[in-house]
Amino acid sequence: MQRCDALATISEDPNRLTRTFASAAMRRANKLVGSWMRAAGLEVRVDGAFNLLGRWNAAQRGAKTFLLGSHLDTVRDAGKYDGPLGVLAAIAAVQSLRERGVKLPFNLEVVGFSDEEGVRYQTTYLGSRALAGTLTAADLARIQEKQIGKARRPRGEFLGYAEVHIEQGPVLEENHLPVGVVTAIAGQNRLRVIFFGVAGHAGTVPMNLRRDALTGAAEFILTVESFAKQHPGLLATVGLISTAPGASNVIPGHAALTLDVRDQSDARRLAAVASLHAKAKVIAKRRGLKLSWTPVQQTSAVPCDKNLAQIFSKCVAQRGHEILKLPSGAGHDAAALSAICPVAMLFVRCKGGVSHHPAESVKAADVRVAVEVLADFILSLAKRQ
Ligand code: GLV
Ligand code: MN
Ligand code: MN
Repeated sequence: MQRCDALATISEDPNRLTRTFASAAMRRANKLVGSWMRAAGLEVRVDGAFNLLGRWNAAQRGAKTFLLGSHLDTVRDAGKYDGPLGVLAAIAAVQSLRERGVKLPFNLEVVGFSDEEGVRYQTTYLGSRALAGTLTAADLARIQEKQIGKARRPRGEFLGYAEVHIEQGPVLEENHLPVGVVTAIAGQNRLRVIFFGVAGHAGTVPMNLRRDALTGAAEFILTVESFAKQHPGLLATVGLISTAPGASNVIPGHAALTLDVRDQSDARRLAAVASLHAKAKVIAKRRGLKLSWTPVQQTSAVPCDKNLAQIFSKCVAQRGHEILKLPSGAGHDAAALSAICPVAMLFVRCKGGVSHHPAESVKAADVRVAVEVLADFILSLAKRQ
């Protein structure tokens, strides 16, 4: 918990916690977390995608590797736990295993991924997708850090990936449970939508002759909200809007926004994106605006591996807690890793379900349970090898 506090002071913004991909703050965070990895006996390096990696080699050469971790980047004005908790819990679990003199039949690697949130380039999982080797040509074209491709690891190297993460929702709290086992991770679409109008004088262009890009965007944003409310299970968010030229006495000629669409069902999510596109076209046409609709990222829903989830469940039960299985509405690096190995996740109870907000909070006692369960999980895997 003290490490979470210390890490939360490393920010690119002096007044709030913001740590984005490849920033100077991320380099400082990697240095600090790297020192904790070394203290736990791990060999540390940073790969071409700025992922921080700490490795514990098996006695046997040629052994495969099990990966533990989460991400070290944050949203803007973030809480302390979304991401860092999973990296620090993994280091704590490794430290506890090493103190007990455990020998593992596989290599264990702890990773702090460099970009799960997608704040810098609006495209998520850059670190974990670089490691998995699933970055697309479009991603590579967007990203300035061209060495990112070097982070790719050989197919077949990993036995699996396990991630501890704050729940970011209210389910565990409602059920009075410290941890829960994740069943699946929701898919998401992220898009960039631009309405193009005609800039003009705020004092001279009559209201009925305007082609105001921002009022078109505003109508679309409210349409997104009402559409999502009418479709249970669908979550749709406009999180960022920018207008140009951007002056109080100029009619906006250009309004660009981000659109984030999620659903546990891939079919419902894709249908929603298509419907919202059709609605944006209607709004643009009626208002004499041009529309640009650019998909930035699409990830499908990912089921967690049943065997690994079963091991997590058994470890939770052995520590005396009821097993609660729940899906994740948030995206996680585990979704990216699922392209190359089985994945599992353990959620930690989150105060009030609050996340992506500085008030994010977890209890030390719950974190202790998560660290113990994660260490037990590794021991359990080792016995099965
Ligand atoms: C990551 O936190 C996401 O789900 O956007
Ligand atoms: Mn996260
Ligand atoms: Mn997040």
